[in-house]
Amino acid sequence: MSKRILITGGAGYIGTILTSYLLRQNYHVRVIDNLLYGGESILPFLLDENYEFIKGDVRDTSLLKKIVQDIDAIVHLAAIVGFPICSVIPDVALEVNVEATKTLTELATKSKTIKRFIFASTYSNYGISPTGEAVTEDSPLNPVSLYAETKIKAEKIVLNINNTTKPTVLRFATAFGFSPRMRFDLIINQFALEMELNKYLEVYQKNYYRSYIHVQDIVKAILKVLEVEDSLIDKQIFNVGGAELNYTKEEIANVIKQFIPNVKLIIKDYSIDGDMRSISVCYDKVNKVLGFKPSWSVKKGVEEILGIIRNKIISNPKDSRYYQLSVAKQ
Ligand SMILES: NC(=O)c1ccc[n+]([C@@H]2O[C@H](COP(=O)([O-])OP(=O)(O)OC[C@H]3O[C@@H](n4cnc5c(N)ncnc54)[C@H](O)[C@@H]3O)[C@@H](O)[C@H]2O)c1
Repeated sequence: MSKRILITGGAGYIGTILTSYLLRQNYHVRVIDNLLYGGESILPFLLDENYEFIKGDVRDTSLLKKIVQDIDAIVHLAAIVGFPICSVIPDVALEVNVEATKTLTELATKSKTIKRFIFASTYSNYGISPTGEAVTEDSPLNPVSLYAETKIKAEKIVLNINNTTKPTVLRFATAFGFSPRMRFDLIINQFALEMELNKYLEVYQKNYYRSYIHVQDIVKAILKVLEVEDSLIDKQIFNVGGAELNYTKEEIANVIKQFIPNVKLIIKDYSIDGDMRSISVCYDKVNKVLGFKPSWSVKKGVEEILGIIRNKIISNPKDSRYYQLSVAKQ
């Protein structure tokens, strides 16, 4: 019998790509999502007999109890994602990102079938790197936003699971690339869109290093964790990204500029609020232990996004559904 995976937040940016990879590999996929950004992203999956969709809220404990039945692994993606929206709806962010994670881990602990629990976390947890050196999984955490605070609290809860449910925390770099639930608030996607549409971009914090990863590579890392032997992932934290994908904002803008020659870039040095400062991340552990290395370069991802925009595959990229903050205003 094929393995049954529960994806929370499975209608989201990462969740829809994960669904597509899992279905292709003959997994059975059950998704719970409250469709904050609409349901168009899951339409093709509804045709697949190995796909089940439950519209619901991860804060609904009685619903969670029902849907964890017969599940082999949970990939917990549902969250209020990013520092801007978390600061606008802080109570909801705490309920969804922390409290619902606690409930889900408690249910997983009681389950006799669940053998994996993968939690989506973020390298925002490191905040500022005091030494300036690349941060490893053992580096101190310095959250500078509520978003990172909720993720750190949730990580602790997840890593304390004490039974056969092997918990793993994946701290993803900032994603880029196309997904059926597109996000144009992510920096590479956003820069590509603005530079293509406006032929103009102002870049702040030009020398600040950030770390990036293509959304399909995130999914490949999740698949690795689902498939490797227990001892490699049990109660482990992995930074998920690649050393060659640490870029400054100015460097990102210049990669995109190669594809839009008549674009005007205004580069500014001053800082604006965010949830981290300049940071470089070490990815040795995920590479050595899981043999994981991203395959998508920023350049290839930019070409992909520009293709989506230029071919009008997304007809209105300015629609509020592609931006996290829009739901906080509803
Ligand atoms: N995309 C990135 O760059 C990135 C980086 C680091 C970590 N992460 C983490 O990965 C996970 C997925 O992120 P994403 O980029 O796919 O974001 P997303 O916002 O596209 O996906 C989150 C999904 O969760 C759903 N959701 C939100 N609240 C819910 C609730 N109460 N009940 C049920 N469903 C709910 C939303 O409808 C959405 O479909 C998140 O936990 C995020 O913190 C993402």
